[in-house]
Amino acid sequence: MELKRFKNYHELSDFAADDIANSIKNNPSLVLCMASGDTPKLTADLLVKKLKEEKIDYSKITFIGLDEWVGLPPTNSGSCHYFFQNKMIQPLQLKPSQYFLFDALAKDLSMECARMDRMITDRDIDIMVVGIGMNGHIGFNEPGTSFNNLSHVIELDEVTKSVGQKYFNEQVELGKGITLGFKHLLNAKKVFLMANGSKKAEVIKKTVEGQVTENFPASIIRQHENSVILIDEEAASLLSKPR
Ligand code: GLP
Repeated sequence: MELKRFKNYHELSDFAADDIANSIKNNPSLVLCMASGDTPKLTADLLVKKLKEEKIDYSKITFIGLDEWVGLPPTNSGSCHYFFQNKMIQPLQLKPSQYFLFDALAKDLSMECARMDRMITDRDIDIMVVGIGMNGHIGFNEPGTSFNNLSHVIELDEVTKSVGQKYFNEQVELGKGITLGFKHLLNAKKVFLMANGSKKAEVIKKTVEGQVTENFPASIIRQHENSVILIDEEAASLLSKPR
């Protein structure tokens, strides 16, 4: 695990976007998996801009969405689907054969998990970009989730249900999440965990300096040989050791 500190959110996002754009330049059929949420927003915008401005061929990439709120339609502006469509799929005009998102309305969610698992078995994830929740979750891998999990459906933690309201225009009933598992993260060739702002300082301290334990999911990042934590000064503010 490597840790990189940036002056601010923009510099952090620019670094991630640059790295992904260059990786696509070197590997046009790159498989990119991304979280939604506030953190990767600017990375997605800058990545789209760079790919277009630098005329990088992105016509063969594959895009995978990390997770979704169970029961929400893709038209809900707070859904992960909506984020992926608006930030990546539509701007890059990806073909349906190029992207894979959880269908949170599927009648059989375990079949939906199996579909995503099969798809990932067929292609390795080259770069996985994840954020971190206020309880240390990654995707919807809540505290206590096994580090060996593949895709699964999970009862959301109370913290996730209340913090998650920030994505919605009006109060929504959040119950379950559907998410890729940590086995996918451990198998990804490179993982970026991004966090910015002082509200993430505590969870970043636990991720970097606490115990590696399933009770604090993001600590798994330290078990990945090619993972990079990207944080701004505010998110780094509680780290005790200078890095
Ligand atoms: C959400 C999502 C995660 C996301 C995390 C942090 O609940 N399930 O995929 O990375 O929480 O979100 P944010 O970037 O908005 O702080």
